[in-house]
Amino acid sequence: MVKDRIQERSIKIGDHDIYLAQESELPEKSAFVGRENELMMCRIAWGLDENYRFRNKKDLNNLSFRLYGEPGMGKNELVYELVRQIRKNNGELKELPFYSMVGHDEMAPEDMVLAVVPTESSGHSQVRMVLRASPLATAILNGGIFFFDELNRLPERALAPLAPALDGRGMLFSASSGIWLEPAGNALPFRFCCALNPSVGSDLPGYIDQRTLPKIEVKYPGHIGLLELLRSQLTADLSAENEYENSCEEVKKQRIAELSQHLEIMLEMLKNRGDTPSVRQGLIIIRLARALFREKKGGLDFSNCLKKAFGACVF
Ligand SMILES: Nc1ncnc2c1ncn2[C@@H]1O[C@H](COP(=O)(O)OP(=O)(O)OP(=O)(O)O)[C@@H](O)[C@H]1O
Ligand SMILES: [Mg+2]
Repeated sequence: MVKDRIQERSIKIGDHDIYLAQESELPEKSAFVGRENELMMCRIAWGLDENYRFRNKKDLNNLSFRLYGEPGMGKNELVYELVRQIRKNNGELKELPFYSMVGHDEMAPEDMVLAVVPTESSGHSQVRMVLRASPLATAILNGGIFFFDELNRLPERALAPLAPALDGRGMLFSASSGIWLEPAGNALPFRFCCALNPSVGSDLPGYIDQRTLPKIEVKYPGHIGLLELLRSQLTADLSAENEYENSCEEVKKQRIAELSQHLEIMLEMLKNRGDTPSVRQGLIIIRLARALFREKKGGLDFSNCLKKAFGACVF
């Protein structure tokens, strides 16, 4: 559940009541590790200093960067980490809202800006029509961080409203309602980023391509880099296990040593096979292998469990 942030549910523009979108959930607990270069590029694009503090909150010339890379390499995780760091390091913005949308082929321009939706007015059970702002429009109006996932899946006509939002004007036009939306006087900083997966969807049209720069690739982090990410996630898995938490220091040490051993075997296997799985695939494979190993209570050695897991997961 999104934390109970104090958020207006609707605002008035002219004669119109506009209902605002809900914030997106952000996994609060994280085992994020590595990706220093990618984080640095994102931070610089958004005008953040090395402590993730805004250099200029009103800066409209910050860059709306684009993450690209194969599925499961950690694009979303990178955005979540940025949001966590910004909230943690900008005291007065510790509740800076986070909004996101996921592109798909059926999306229309109204889904990007304002949609007319029916609502039941209390008391009379009458249906009346209201305007509902998209998460993007809500982020423009009130400020916040906005993440557009799978941007290249949108049909071109739905991309058009993005142009004035991303070129310094920071505005959105709703063609169906004839309303311009712009940041409120007391709006929080607005930052935009997007992600796309090059193997699906189409190329972005030139005017959107140029407004979503720089491109930041999130690629295979190398065997050692991958192992570091897996170690972090698996250590978090262990800490969440009741059995581990309730055991004595000696047993805890043994479990950590066993984890290191399993990671070593994984590293050898990656080198021998020449595979470059995504972070998600790597996690699935090693979690499966460790579960198989546990099930067999040592009857099957870990290398065999890992081979089985590789075999069952694509490779
Ligand atoms: N730097 C990291 N540290 C720890 N875990 C990570 C890191 N990067 C990715 N992961 C883990 O890898 C998995 C996949 O990451 P994520 O969902 O961010 O990938 P993605 O590139 O957005 O994938 P898709 O293109 O399929 O949406 C998640 O379980 C995530 O927690
Ligand atoms: Mg993703």
